[in-house]
Amino acid sequence: SGYVTLDVGYKNTGATQSSITFLDGELGILKYRGYPIEQLAEKSTFIEVAYLLIYGELPTADQLAKFEYEISRHTLVHEDMKKFFDGFPSKSHPMGQLSSLVCSLSAFYPESLKSNQTKEELNQSMIKMLAKMATIVSWIYKKSLGHPVMYPLNKFDYVTNFMNMTFGQLTEDVEIDPVVVSAMNTLLILHADHEQNCSTSTVRIVGSSESNIYASVSAGISALWGPLHGGANQAVIEMLEKIKEDGGDTDKWIAKAKDKNDPFRLMGFGHRVYKNFDPRAKIIKKACDDILEKLGIDDEVLEIAKRLEEVALKDPYFVERKLYPNVDFYSGIIYRALGFPTDMFTVLFALGRLPGWIAQWKEMKQNKEPIGRPRQIYNGAVDREYVDIANR
Ligand code: CMC
Repeated sequence: SGYVTLDVGYKNTGATQSSITFLDGELGILKYRGYPIEQLAEKSTFIEVAYLLIYGELPTADQLAKFEYEISRHTLVHEDMKKFFDGFPSKSHPMGQLSSLVCSLSAFYPESLKSNQTKEELNQSMIKMLAKMATIVSWIYKKSLGHPVMYPLNKFDYVTNFMNMTFGQLTEDVEIDPVVVSAMNTLLILHADHEQNCSTSTVRIVGSSESNIYASVSAGISALWGPLHGGANQAVIEMLEKIKEDGGDTDKWIAKAKDKNDPFRLMGFGHRVYKNFDPRAKIIKKACDDILEKLGIDDEVLEIAKRLEEVALKDPYFVERKLYPNVDFYSGIIYRALGFPTDMFTVLFALGRLPGWIAQWKEMKQNKEPIGRPRQIYNGAVDREYVDIANR
C-alpha cells in the first residue's frame, strides 16, 4: 500500500549502498575499491583483484599467498558431480550447464545451506565457490570436445591452472604460454565487477532471501546468459562472422542496426550507464591488438570490427544516442585467439564476474539488507465474477 514509484528496468532506482565498485558513466570511470581499472588491468592479477573485491584491500604478499593456498585446497570438485554432469548432451550450451552445475554444488557442500553460518564458514563457502568454478568451466570445455576432464594441479596459480585444465592433455605435457595467461588475467580483471548490473542484482536479490551462495551465483549465471548482458560477447563474434560471410559491407549492417523495423542491433554497442565510452573497451581494444600480434594471428574479423566501430562512431544515429563499443565488442576476438570456441565466451565472462558476485553477496549479508521485493502498479482487470467453464 502507499505510494509506489514506477521505474521499469530500474533505470534510476538505487537498490543498495555499496563500497565495492565506482562507476561514472559520463566520464567513463571505473574503479574497484577506489583503484582505477586501468592500473589493475596493467599491474594486478585476477586472484589479487578477487581478494581486493571480496575483502576490500589489496593483499600483502602473505595474505595473497594464504588466499591462493586456501583456494588451491578446494579446486577438486566432488567426483559424484560428474554423474550429474555426464547427463548433459555434449553440445548443450555451456551457460545452461554452468548454471546447473553451480547450483548442484549446494547438494555436495550442504554446509552452505546453514542460515546461521559463522564468519569463517561463510568465508570457506566463498573460497570453495571461487576454487571450484574454474574446474567446472574447464570440465564443460573438455566435454564439448569429448575429451576426459583434467584435474587441477595446485602447483599452478589460479589462471594457469584454469588454462592447463582447459587446454592441457592427459596424454602429453602442454606448455601454457605466459603470454596467454597474462591476456587471460587482463580479461578476467576487466570483467570482475560492475556494480549493480543485471546478474549482480540477481545474485543480491536471490541471496537476500538467505539462499545459499551456490544458488545465488547460479541465478547470476542465468541472468548473465542473455544476449543483452554477458551473452553479447558470443553474439558479437556471430555478428562479425555473418558480416564477413556477407562480403564485409559494414555500411549495410550499420543501416540495419539503425532501421527501427529491423530487430537487429549492433551487438557490443551501447550501455545502460556508459554514455561516453566504456573504459574496459578501451583497454580490451589495445589488449586485442597486442595479443594477436604476439601470437602472430591475423584475424579478418578484427578488421571488420574496427571498420564497424569507425563507421558507427561517425554516424549521427549512434552519436545522438551515445552508443559506443562496450566490453563485449573486442573480448570475443581475444578469447578466439586464445583458442576458446564461441559458445564458451559467456562462461568466461561468468568466471571473471565471479569475484564481484561473491563480494556483492557478502556485502549484502554484512549490510543485513532486507529481502529484495520490488513493488508494482497493477493495471489488470478489477472485480470479475468466476464463470463456470461450461459458460465461457
Ligand atoms: N544497436 C542499435 N541501436 C541501439 C543499440 C545497438 N546496439 N543499443 C541501443 N540502441 C538504441 C535503441 O534502439 C534506442 O533507440 P530509440 O531511442 O530510438 O528507441 C536507444 O539506442 C536507447 O537504447 P535502450 O535499449 O533504451 O538502452 P538500454 O539502456 O535499455 O539498453 C543495452 C542498453 C546494452 C541493453 C543496449 O544498448 C543493447 O541492446 N546493446 C546491444 C547488446 C550488448 O552489447 N550488450 C552488452 C552490454 S555491456 C556488457 C554486459 O552488460 O554484459
